[in-house]
Amino acid sequence: MPKLILAYSGGLDTTTAIKWLTVERGYEIIALNIDVGASREQALLEERGMAAGAVKVRVVDAREDFLRYFAFPALAAGALYQDGYPLATALARPLMAKLLVDVAHEEGATAVAHGCTGKGNDQVRFDIGIQTLDPSIEIVAPTREKSMARETQMEYLAQHGVHIPWTDKGPFSIDENLWGRSAEAGVLEDPWVEPPAEAFEWTQDPDTVTAQPEYIEVGFEHGMPVSIDGQELDPVTMVERLNALGGEHGVGRIDLIEDRLVGIKSREVYEAPAAMILFAAHRALEAMTLSKQQVKLKRHVAEEYAELIYNGLWFSAHHQDIAAYVASTQRHVTGTVRMRVGRGRATPVGRHAEKSLYEHALATYDADDAYDQSAAVGFINIWGLQSRVQARRQLLGAPEETLRIATPQERTE
Ligand code: ARG
Repeated sequence: MPKLILAYSGGLDTTTAIKWLTVERGYEIIALNIDVGASREQALLEERGMAAGAVKVRVVDAREDFLRYFAFPALAAGALYQDGYPLATALARPLMAKLLVDVAHEEGATAVAHGCTGKGNDQVRFDIGIQTLDPSIEIVAPTREKSMARETQMEYLAQHGVHIPWTDKGPFSIDENLWGRSAEAGVLEDPWVEPPAEAFEWTQDPDTVTAQPEYIEVGFEHGMPVSIDGQELDPVTMVERLNALGGEHGVGRIDLIEDRLVGIKSREVYEAPAAMILFAAHRALEAMTLSKQQVKLKRHVAEEYAELIYNGLWFSAHHQDIAAYVASTQRHVTGTVRMRVGRGRATPVGRHAEKSLYEHALATYDADDAYDQSAAVGFINIWGLQSRVQARRQLLGAPEETLRIATPQERTE
């Protein structure tokens, strides 16, 4: 029997996939659970995987690698897809693709499989990741090939002697890891409907949380978060702690209509307390340490970076180039940001950087001002030159209405 490595979550879809790939396709299945921080009990996973007929269930703890090599670089880049989504799921897929391929090589498997449907982004990220890392590996996607309703899946398993007590799935499709949780489908498919309380699991309702904010100091080195309140923390501990803190204060809820790569607009509800705290803190530190031009170009690069991650192009030369630029911008992004966390918001309220470009002597209105105000006159004289020439030649004396900027509504009339 040819061997296949299946990306295994322990849920009904991938458990059914184990049986289906064995019976209908004749594979010997090794179920690989890649732990990026989704809360699933390991014992339960192994039990289900073996019950469904896997020859082996392997669990890899990839949490630290996920944060260090995927989530934190995206943080340093400022990568938020469509200005809102911190890319938790999108960042985990290339890591999973890599581990699937590595384990396939180790186990002498010729095929790998994932449980993605044919409508989403995740299939693209898995497939391209795997194809890029080893084009000779066969990719099977049972859910894309033959989608089965939940009931049908349970019947299928029962017919083949697999009796697992499945608890109710809940009203939404959920994906989660340390960097965030996403909920879609169910009532969320109506974009007019406010996300109900059950859509949230990590965060309290920002309207009912305590009014008392909490203050924390986040330390960064070269753009990477390294400490909280002066205490150095490994990435997993740091992010777990910030998720708990932010969640308690209702921080990190995002309700987004987003554009999938496959052309569908979809409604997603995210919770990402740690990511949102860290993004705000990191941005505040960059404002202190990057020049105006660096901030501006980096914003464009952030958008490009977010898109390439979202669109499944992690393993690409384009990514390597962009990552090199981002790393270069982070040389002096070292320092501490004091954050106020409360009432659904994470706000930078203090910042300090060793190589800060903020100079008090220049900014101050006090007596020790080092800025030469009289020099501003000459500066404005040159900077305003083209405005004055244009006004003199083209604008002065023109009819009043040609100078007025029309509103969008007026323009379409
Ligand atoms: N829309 C997000 C993305 O494409 C989240 C997808 C969540 N995946 C899932 N299988 N529920 O990255």
